[in-house]
Amino acid sequence: MIGIWNSKIETELANMKFIFQIEDLNELQLRVWSEPVPMVEIDETVIEGNHLFAKGHNKYAPGILTFDLYFEENSFTGKLDMMGQEIELIGEKGRGTALSEEFAALAEMIRKTDLSPRTDAEIKEEVDKLLSKMSLEDKIGQMSQCLSSNHSFGGEVESAPPEVLVAEGKAGSILGAFDLKRIYELQKIAVEQSPHKIPLFFNADIIHGFQTIFPVPLAWSCSWDMELIKDACSIAAKEATASGNTYNHGPMVDLTRDPRWGRVVEGAGEDPYLGAQIAKAQVEGFQGDSLFSDETLIACLKHFIGYGGTEGGRDYNTVDISEGTLRNFHLPAFQAGIEAGAGSVMNAFNIYQGVPVAGNSFLLRELLREELGFEGMLISDYGSVEEIQIHGAARDKREAAAMAINATMDIEMVTRAYADELPRLVEAGTIKEEQLNDAVRRILTYKYKIGIMDDPYRYIQPEKEAQLHFHPDHLEKSRELARKSVVMLKNNGVLPLKREQKVAVIGPFGASRDLLGPWQFSQYAYETISLLQGISAKGLDKSQLKYVQGCDVEADIENGIEEAIMAAKESDVIVLALGEHSDMSGEAASRTDITLPAVQMKLAEAVVATGKPVVLVLTNGRPLALNWFEQHTDAIVETWFLGSQAGHAIADVLFGDYNPSGKLTMSFPQNVGQVPVYYNHFKTGRPVTNATRDQKYISKYIDSPNDPLYPFGYGLSYSKFEYSNLHIDLPKMTRKEVLQASVTVTNTGHYAGEEIVQLYIQDLYGSTVRPVKELKNFRSIRLEPGQSQRVEFQISEQDLIYYTGNHRYEAELGEFKLYIGSNSVDVMEVAFELV
Ligand code: BGC
Repeated sequence: MIGIWNSKIETELANMKFIFQIEDLNELQLRVWSEPVPMVEIDETVIEGNHLFAKGHNKYAPGILTFDLYFEENSFTGKLDMMGQEIELIGEKGRGTALSEEFAALAEMIRKTDLSPRTDAEIKEEVDKLLSKMSLEDKIGQMSQCLSSNHSFGGEVESAPPEVLVAEGKAGSILGAFDLKRIYELQKIAVEQSPHKIPLFFNADIIHGFQTIFPVPLAWSCSWDMELIKDACSIAAKEATASGNTYNHGPMVDLTRDPRWGRVVEGAGEDPYLGAQIAKAQVEGFQGDSLFSDETLIACLKHFIGYGGTEGGRDYNTVDISEGTLRNFHLPAFQAGIEAGAGSVMNAFNIYQGVPVAGNSFLLRELLREELGFEGMLISDYGSVEEIQIHGAARDKREAAAMAINATMDIEMVTRAYADELPRLVEAGTIKEEQLNDAVRRILTYKYKIGIMDDPYRYIQPEKEAQLHFHPDHLEKSRELARKSVVMLKNNGVLPLKREQKVAVIGPFGASRDLLGPWQFSQYAYETISLLQGISAKGLDKSQLKYVQGCDVEADIENGIEEAIMAAKESDVIVLALGEHSDMSGEAASRTDITLPAVQMKLAEAVVATGKPVVLVLTNGRPLALNWFEQHTDAIVETWFLGSQAGHAIADVLFGDYNPSGKLTMSFPQNVGQVPVYYNHFKTGRPVTNATRDQKYISKYIDSPNDPLYPFGYGLSYSKFEYSNLHIDLPKMTRKEVLQASVTVTNTGHYAGEEIVQLYIQDLYGSTVRPVKELKNFRSIRLEPGQSQRVEFQISEQDLIYYTGNHRYEAELGEFKLYIGSNSVDVMEVAFELV
């Protein structure tokens, strides 16, 4: 029974397909993958002869599943008990046909062939015409979103089934319809039965790939490679639109400083400048050159704004930040995304200055719309309109709805405060119908822009699913970005591994396919390349490669440690594969302890005690506290969650077929007590310096250094890069002048390699205090061994502007320092002045 098997069923919720993957990894192991949404987690398997019994649970809702199957040579039969409902299963060997295959012929018939985009003027005219025919209820319908089934991924929501809401024109967009058949069914109801036959948006969280999975965003941010990030988003859009999705709930562009917060995995780290570049690249990737293309998705910048400031790193917690911090740190990524043309913005769950963002007119109406000029659709995050009341900023749901609409919130995600309350608010004159008209105008405009008003089925593209999903070229791009996302944190020379060495792969991530990370729903998860597969593919023969799991991510395995020690002793080098599973980061996955789980520490201690060289390979979704490993292992390779090709990408780096160049975008603390620790902090009145380090009344800990273990911008290579001859041409520059800074970088190592040369500036004093360093530019260069290159940067007044104590954006005269180096700590410095 070793291999892949599949079985299809029809349930009330969806057409489903199960893939059973049975592998021999020292012992038989079963994984079950479900389509369209991967939701099965197996907890227990018993295999006897041709009989397989497995018990598991639904990842997204409480409920037990059991499989009771009997296998023949090429087929199997049996029963599935899904939350009390018994279903007959008949299956066959192999992956089987795609769920949507039956649509191929139909899709060709229902789609239009000769469609051209409308001009802005035409769209405006059509929108006004349609709007004039719509009742108040029809308008509110467009402003309401519902789930694709009665099955909820988040909190339970009370509402009529989606079929009814759509038929009555009470929903204008659908969340999470991953199945092409479901998308077709609902769109058909909308265009045949709803009052104005207005097609639906299909919204989904496509964060780092759709079927081909790319590294998690925190990982890909470490590549500092805008072109590759853009390519990844454009591939995600191609794959997702083939399956009918039109409106993305991404990119997430929150600034993140606290690794306890699970959502750091979705963002680009702690730097506003880099975050802005990455936000732009993602929007350009998802939206392409035109939203009219049937291969592009509407991008939604989330979560506006300040969510990353959540106290204690606890998700959904209070945020209390100043306007200066908001504007100088949190805003730049949103601003860049808006300038890149993002069609949508989603609010954050948190409060700002005591008012929940969902109903915060200063943030949404004044800052986002009036000041930044955002004209797209503003969507509320799941439940956040009703939560205005729960926060305690509104007396009831009606007041909450009024606050949201007054703040210009266009679409309410899933909950029904708008549907229930807006009619009476308009009747009572508390809000004006014109406010709703503005919202509906924006929504309909985008429905025209993406072409669904003229061809509602144009994104139902089963033939493209078959052609594009998990395409080899997409996998190649994923591998390329994965290699670039790896950050080597330590290497005493044990890496790269040599092909003649005997390698023991030890740890819960040695053969695991849990390398995709949170926020992905790929139906190809079972084809994820594990680390063991990646290393095997390097051509080591059987006698050279041993694998022992040692322990689970959070639990012991009987004799696991003993077996690990034996394997370690018989090998030349150990690849210790440890980390966090994918549910340990992401939404609602905050941790107070950011070390590895105790059981993995026990395994690591035992393996290190053998005295063999140990290479720690980490799979995780946040910066971890790695002090012990820094002291006791020979090399540390941070791989995050690298996606579909993870194992190949990691093996490429381990064996030196690829020279790592990734640089951290979040600082790694020495211990959780330092958190939040980030490079661009303020100085304080009593800073630690070499001179003050041993004094008492200084801003420091008595039991820990202030500095992180690995700073922002840090990452090693197999090459060695040396910096020399930092020069600036204008020690005093005026507002009109442009300063040229240059430095020589030399590869003094033995490998050709890539280096990310970083430029930082410090504004020594201002009307408000300034960070000790701020990234202002960077450049990737590639150098052969022995080769040198002069790297040049330009600084203009624009680079020195910030939101000052005078409540405006300006560069203030005075002294600055300019730093260039390999990370935020190892830099050369020179002073200059703005006069
Ligand atoms: C998350 C959003 C996401 C939404 C829909 C919310 O709980 O905060 O980021 O887009 O769910 O899935």
